[in-house]
Amino acid sequence: MRVIFASSEVVPYSKTGGLGDVAGALPGALQRCGVDIAVVTPRYTGQGARPGDVITQQIGHQIIHDLAVPFAGGMKYAAVWRDERQGVPIYFIDNQEYFGVGYIYGAGDFDAERFAFFSRAVLELTRRLGPPPDLIHCHDWQTGFIPAYLATTLAGDPWFAGTATLFTIHNLAYQGIFSPDRLGHFGLGWEAFQHGFEFYQNANALKSGLYFSTALSTVSPRYAREIQTPEFGNRLDGLLRSRSRDLIGILNGIDEDEWNPATDRYLAANYSSQLPADPAGKLECKRDLLSRYKLPIDLDRPVVAIVSRLTVQKGIDLIAQSIWRILDTGARFILLGSGDRDYEGFFQHVRDTRPDQVGVYFGFSTALSHQIEAGADIFLMPSAYEPCGLNQMYSLRYGTIPIVRAVGGLDDSIRDFDLATLEGNGFKFHEYSAEHLTEKFYEALMIYYDRDVWRRLQLNGMREDLSWNRSARRYLEAYHQIVTRKRAA
Ligand code: ADP
Ligand code: GLC
Repeated sequence: MRVIFASSEVVPYSKTGGLGDVAGALPGALQRCGVDIAVVTPRYTGQGARPGDVITQQIGHQIIHDLAVPFAGGMKYAAVWRDERQGVPIYFIDNQEYFGVGYIYGAGDFDAERFAFFSRAVLELTRRLGPPPDLIHCHDWQTGFIPAYLATTLAGDPWFAGTATLFTIHNLAYQGIFSPDRLGHFGLGWEAFQHGFEFYQNANALKSGLYFSTALSTVSPRYAREIQTPEFGNRLDGLLRSRSRDLIGILNGIDEDEWNPATDRYLAANYSSQLPADPAGKLECKRDLLSRYKLPIDLDRPVVAIVSRLTVQKGIDLIAQSIWRILDTGARFILLGSGDRDYEGFFQHVRDTRPDQVGVYFGFSTALSHQIEAGADIFLMPSAYEPCGLNQMYSLRYGTIPIVRAVGGLDDSIRDFDLATLEGNGFKFHEYSAEHLTEKFYEALMIYYDRDVWRRLQLNGMREDLSWNRSARRYLEAYHQIVTRKRAA
């Protein structure tokens, strides 16, 4: 099984959110299952990375100087760099005009052109990497052009005759909408527009991916069902319902080497579930976290945390509405995030009002995100919607108890704690309301002060298998089915 894995973010080279984490870890797990896999991603360079962007510029070595990519009515050229991470080859498409601009996303209409070029370059690169791939695994709207090129512009090209596509939806709300006039410039014709990209008089790269790919997947079973309803479907639920038989949900795993409290290099102390009688390491991390945020060192009171993009998706409104009640219990609140300026302003105001209880950091910091997972007691994720979510799983691994709303992957990964049976790994509420979040918080608080029960709850999560192994096997099964179906057609 020869697979090309195309993603606009790959940890540790680039990241704005969970897609980067997935693309950094899943290919390795697939390779361990015997897949011959290579990752392709842009090589982002340039000064002035925006908040939320992590860009590593020093990578690998150049293997191709002049990859010719048919684009913009002629040829455009890219260099290609290669690095290897845990045995998986990673190829970087290097074009200064498109990726030397100092950010990953954020250029409006120009982003469509940047990622159309990337998509077209991925296809040209496969011709230089050995036999044709059996499958190209695409991720989110940035790669939605790939299945369109294969189904239209390159439909008669014998090189790709046996190549199937799997399109994975990480977030249906980001669609890559642009003016249809641009399609000709990208080397895509009327056929691609009429059948795939067309979306309320605009062009939509995500829709193209959903329409033209051999099969579809998303990052949790529950989100796979939700997106077929008008409430979660972002105006694409009709198309998704029509492709229901080709759509599966596979829950993400986590990179257990990167997120392991026993070895995590960012932590003040390491700890693990093997030492149930010794919570000292985690306590040391809590002390360290409080001092980083310049809060009084009081280890008895719970630290409640969030690490998040500050957007409507993440239920930040619910946190804003319940924050004063949470603080009135004496809990500490720590935030790491960036995004919406209004949210930042609000949480700065909360911090200024309760400087002894609240710490905020607006920006992107990988080290802090690890230190928070380790040092906090409770992690809030009251999302409005959540395709999968990774932080609740990082929390489980670090003995930090997640309070989540029962949507998407949060519902699939978190089981509400039951005091009678002592089963469950966190706290889960259903209705999108601050009252329900606050109630769950009170429930968690009562258990927090019962140290033995809390310890049991922590260990339930810390001992779970959250690795990529199981999910990788499910992807592999899917790959085989998809390739067989493609060949049969
Ligand atoms: P999403 O991809 O929707 O943002 P996920 O939970 O899947 O949500 O993944 C978010 C990832 O981004 C996690 O690895 C999280 O730790 C990281 N992250 C989010 N905000 C920040 C931040 N401000 N600094 C560092 N890491 C962050
Ligand atoms: C998206 C989703 C998030 C998911 C991540 C990785 O960013 O918002 O829920 O965990 O992709 O699949």
